[in-house]
Amino acid sequence: MQIKNLKLRNFRNYSRLDVDFSETFNIIYGNNAQGKTNIIEAIFLCASGRSHRTSRDDEMVKYDSGGFEVNLQLRKRDFDDEIGVLFNTVKNGSEKRKKISINEIPLKRIGDLMGHLNAVIFSPEDLLIVKQGPSERRRFIDITLSQLRPAYFYDLQKYSRILFQRNTLLKRICIQKNLVDTLEVWNKHLVKTGSRIVKARMNFIDRLNVLAGARHEKLTNNEEKLELLYDPSFKITAECSEDEIEDVFYRALIRGKENELRKGTTVIGPHRDDMQVVLNGESTKIYGSQGQQRTAVLSMKLAEIDLMQEESGEFPVLLLDDVLSELDDRRKEFLLDSIGGLQTFITSTDRGFFNRGNDEAAFFYIKNGTMQRN
Ligand SMILES: Nc1ncnc2c1ncn2[C@@H]1O[C@H](COP(=O)(O)OP(=O)(O)O)[C@@H](O)[C@H]1O
Ligand SMILES: [Mg+2]
Repeated sequence: MQIKNLKLRNFRNYSRLDVDFSETFNIIYGNNAQGKTNIIEAIFLCASGRSHRTSRDDEMVKYDSGGFEVNLQLRKRDFDDEIGVLFNTVKNGSEKRKKISINEIPLKRIGDLMGHLNAVIFSPEDLLIVKQGPSERRRFIDITLSQLRPAYFYDLQKYSRILFQRNTLLKRICIQKNLVDTLEVWNKHLVKTGSRIVKARMNFIDRLNVLAGARHEKLTNNEEKLELLYDPSFKITAECSEDEIEDVFYRALIRGKENELRKGTTVIGPHRDDMQVVLNGESTKIYGSQGQQRTAVLSMKLAEIDLMQEESGEFPVLLLDDVLSELDDRRKEFLLDSIGGLQTFITSTDRGFFNRGNDEAAFFYIKNGTMQRN
């Protein structure tokens, strides 16, 4: 799929923008703090319904304006789509809400946006996927899986509501002991929805592992073996059915009951999952050099592209925010070679890094919230 056109109104430092993109490379360049990442953010918003760098929609509203609008025209294999995101900071106490529409028809739920625009984003912060704690890895898994499967996105939302209720109850039981009998109904809810999430993650990581491993072999000339291994909060095997997962999850909850009552919070479940990133049999997080970690993430991102292509039959668009300058020449060339056929958006402070002489590449110069094609 390709983005044909993007329109912004009062989005970050853009008052208005109306731009047509190239179907291949789009090079977005300019000094720091001029608005390059803001373009990437607007595109990603249309893919996932949220910003990749903030969970607060009002941060994206241009200062001193009443709301933003993003509009994106998409060309797909069989048809064209138009995605609209509207956010108003309404005064008089009425609620602030994001309104998303496809072809001018408002969506009832944000999840219905998933899969319309598939985008893979790669930015310097993605290094955190290997460097930081489990929550960064869960975020990576959740964002990708949600784009692939709206049902997964709804399960996540549901699970987080159940978890909140159950945690509230656990805290109240500390004061009001007789409430302990009501825990069972929340156990059932948690296990039911949680097991669907676990099963989906298990399948996803399994496939990602194969694809990322293959990508990594090529990237490192067969010198390194990359493995991605699911590390759930309770012991299951790859052969487990959803029923069996439910069973194991439930028994782990019962076993951990005293511990949970003491802590006043749920300690078992997919909200505590992790994924191990292993290079040649050792933890990348602990033993990997900066260069190895960067290559591992690159392999994971390329695998994400492969997976989206396999699932939907179409290539996603690729958003490379400030990452090319961080890669050495060999990896840079490898990356650019391996993304042939994808529409790609590349931001950089320096126009000169792109020396492919590709006629179809379009260059956009960004300065203080304005864009000039040249
Ligand atoms: N809500 C907002 N309203 C107006 N300007 C904003 C808003 N949020 C960020 N900015 C401005 O956007 C610029 C940063 O844009 P960004 O795309 O991150 O820069 P870069 O070109 O370095 O990627 C800064 O000048 C910042 O002040
Ligand atoms: Mg930036």
